[in-house]
Amino acid sequence: MAADQFAPRTLMKKNKKGLKLGGMGPEASNSPLAAKPDKRDSVVDTLQVGVEYQLQLNHEDFQVLHELGSGNGGTVSKVIFEQDRRQIVMARKVIHIEAKPAVRKQIIRELQIMYECHSPYIVSFYGAYKHDKDVIMCMEFMEPGSLDYIAKVMGSLDVQYLRVIADSVLKGLVYLYDTHKIMHRDIKPSNILMNSRGQIKLCDFGVSGELVNSIADTFVGTSTYMSPERIQGGKYTVKSDVWSFGLTLMELALGRFPFGGDADGSGDKRASSGPMGILDLLQSIVNEPAPKLDKDKYPAELSDFCDKCLAKDPEERLSPKELLDHPLIQLDLPVDVEQWAEDIINTAAAKKAAQNGQPPPPPRIRDHSQPTIPTVGSQRKQKA
Ligand SMILES: Nc1ncnc2c1ncn2[C@@H]1O[C@H](COP(=O)(O)OP(=O)(O)OP(=O)(O)O)[C@@H](O)[C@H]1O
Ligand SMILES: [Mg+2]
Repeated sequence: MAADQFAPRTLMKKNKKGLKLGGMGPEASNSPLAAKPDKRDSVVDTLQVGVEYQLQLNHEDFQVLHELGSGNGGTVSKVIFEQDRRQIVMARKVIHIEAKPAVRKQIIRELQIMYECHSPYIVSFYGAYKHDKDVIMCMEFMEPGSLDYIAKVMGSLDVQYLRVIADSVLKGLVYLYDTHKIMHRDIKPSNILMNSRGQIKLCDFGVSGELVNSIADTFVGTSTYMSPERIQGGKYTVKSDVWSFGLTLMELALGRFPFGGDADGSGDKRASSGPMGILDLLQSIVNEPAPKLDKDKYPAELSDFCDKCLAKDPEERLSPKELLDHPLIQLDLPVDVEQWAEDIINTAAAKKAAQNGQPPPPPRIRDHSQPTIPTVGSQRKQKA
């Protein structure tokens, strides 16, 4: 397939091919309640389907609980959306776009593709709207949250957890690529999230070219998770996402960013800091051999998986589909993912209380009346 098929796409392009926005009912949707975009935007209005489960996202219907974090261009908050006596907790990302109103409108239009993403491996989308100079995206609230946060709370992760993460991320990438012809383009720990049911999902993929351009106009969009070929301005393929994921997985195993640390592994914990400046770091990613996990300390399946992701030549790197057959994914290491999520939430709460000099709060106990999702280890024969 030609590479440009995978460029960030717009809905206009998609509609030219005669495709419609899919069913919006909860059965058809990955979202608990699929959302409808802001009525004030007439273009978006015409794209609405499925009356019964639509949400009309009005700015005044949100109550901000607290900030979850911010990155290049966006600030994410936990919010409650309340309408018709119905309350939904969401994560809301506010992206300030200093551009002509037409640009913001175009971004909202492009983000509509997210309505069509229905996968257990992709963060659900409630909708997007404009507010003043902001583009606002509403999505599933994920607690405990992103993998960088989880690593901060739990430290380095053992192979059984890394296997679950790898399985979910690969299935998410395969879904985006096969179903929507989308490459992620920004795989890193902060863009991989876990919810309270222990599901691991991808967010912030490059669905809107206009959004990517607008953020790049304001911020230096260089990520240390970029593959060597991308740093060098080469062609972006789904294998570039694989490189970024290999680095992410290795970071979660080591408890530090794999490049640029001290030789004994006790060096800086963050990609953005440390003895190396960003340019040195990018140079070493391009010029130095890829990092390797110590075979004496880590299971062979894990170190081989990372090697396969971190082949410097993209031709030699495996694709997400090929990696799903890797021995790491086939390992019989069942994990009760819901229990895992609960442990992370409780550990985070206890650490926060200790920092504030308070006694640990009572642990949050899983509601066993709710249907649980199966243990991930027992699902390993299923492919995305
Ligand atoms: N759906 C969500 N549920 C819960 N927390 C979220 C959600 N989306 C994002 N976050 C949190 O908000 C933080 C900020 O996210 P944001 O996407 O703005 O920046 P980032 O991913 O850290 O960096 P960058 O902007 O460089 O991609 C994340 O690190 C994550 O911890
Ligand atoms: Mg992000």
